[in-house]
Amino acid sequence: FLGLLGGTALAATGCGEVAGELLTGSAPMPAPFTVPLPIPQVARPVSPGLYEVTQRVTRVEILPGLRTEVWGYDGTFPGPTFELRRGEPATVRVRNELPVPTSTHLHGGVTPPDSDGYPTDLVIPAGGHSGHSAHMTHPGEVHHEGTKDYRYPVGQRAATLWYHDHRMDYTAPSVWQGLAGFALVRDEEEDALSLPAGERELPLLICDRSFAEDGSFRYPRTHEGHDSDYMEGVEGDVILVNGAPWPVHEVTATRYRLRLLNASNARRLRLRLAPGGRFTQIGSDSGLLAAPVRHDTLPMAPGERYDVVVDFSAYPVGSTVTLVNTLADGPAGKVMRFVVARRAKDDSAVPTTLSRPPERPVPVTTRSFDFRRTGQSWTINGRVYRPGDLLARPRLGTAEVWRLTSDFHHPVHLHLAHFLVLARNGRPPAATDAGWKDTVDVRPYEVVDVLARFEGYRGRYMLHCHNLEHEDMAMMADFEVV
Ligand code: C2O
Ligand code: CU
Repeated sequence: FLGLLGGTALAATGCGEVAGELLTGSAPMPAPFTVPLPIPQVARPVSPGLYEVTQRVTRVEILPGLRTEVWGYDGTFPGPTFELRRGEPATVRVRNELPVPTSTHLHGGVTPPDSDGYPTDLVIPAGGHSGHSAHMTHPGEVHHEGTKDYRYPVGQRAATLWYHDHRMDYTAPSVWQGLAGFALVRDEEEDALSLPAGERELPLLICDRSFAEDGSFRYPRTHEGHDSDYMEGVEGDVILVNGAPWPVHEVTATRYRLRLLNASNARRLRLRLAPGGRFTQIGSDSGLLAAPVRHDTLPMAPGERYDVVVDFSAYPVGSTVTLVNTLADGPAGKVMRFVVARRAKDDSAVPTTLSRPPERPVPVTTRSFDFRRTGQSWTINGRVYRPGDLLARPRLGTAEVWRLTSDFHHPVHLHLAHFLVLARNGRPPAATDAGWKDTVDVRPYEVVDVLARFEGYRGRYMLHCHNLEHEDMAMMADFEVV
């Protein structure tokens, strides 16, 4: 109950900076940096370009000696990593054997609208899978019985994408329960670079969770609708990387490419290396940068990715390098640890020219979107989303400035469209805003201008807050590319 009280107390302070943290009860915790880092398996196609994935319930050991019920793509958390190539279309046949409907969104994907994971485009649990309770229905809901083929043309540049559940009213509990994984797009531009690869390329899905005494994930809500004690979102006190608590990974004293993803529901991170060191950023949400950018810290709101290189040859062999989160004290301030085990040959490089991203387009118009609390609701331009609510009709092949304002931290995500951050409060953006992105943290009382390109497909897409509790409280809107 501490967690619940904490949530209420924080909400009552009105400081608007923190989410309600749920504390893990008396479940046994591993000592930090003792559990090996798991690497999600790579999905294998059943025939060229066709993947089959089953969403199902499994029980896995996350805390020592306990079993945690997970909802996983192929029963794993994170789900399998999809290795996609630009120009090679993929179909993913998703079969749902969970007790709840699902809708899968490829975050950052340039995807036709009927495969984009619209919140009411549902895969209903396959026949015979018990426990399926009636869900709250919405006008215009589409039902696929048991399976759905998601079609991904993969026409986009190399990038670190991810996929996760996106069902109306229920994204936050479903993702908390495990429905998330990586999708990496590769292309020739990336092949031409000698970036660290193989064992020296690590996808790192970072998220927080809390646990009940029996090892199950603890979440304040099991039904549709939200708990007003958690207006700011739900945070856990245990940091998982690729599903393991505060893991450790042995590295050689060479360069490593880290694909960082903040897959938390509501927790923002600010990553730093201890005892010191720099991240060389090579890519943003939507692909490789033109040139590398160096950072001491990386602020990461939910949904954001950074593609970085860390050179472990800068540390003595035998030493440890810890990835920490400077936004939290205590357990959530630790993320994972690298142990620099030995010297090794390094043929990788980070060239000063990485890629040729699309040039900055000229906008045809400006629109404003205000992300704000209205009473007990989270709204965009004063509206609580209902499926079909359309706020904009940009034209295919054009670019627009979208001015995002907010009263709190709202990580704003656009489906389909990638954008450049032009300005924060009329000033140049931060170095960590570099490159094409699909998610940007709009901070309290900030005005963020982004320049979005509407390329790829016509049809209905969404923009929303990627604090998943806010998303479930309907802080979303549709836009239609015409
Ligand atoms: Cu990652 Cu519409 O979400
Ligand atoms: Cu929000």
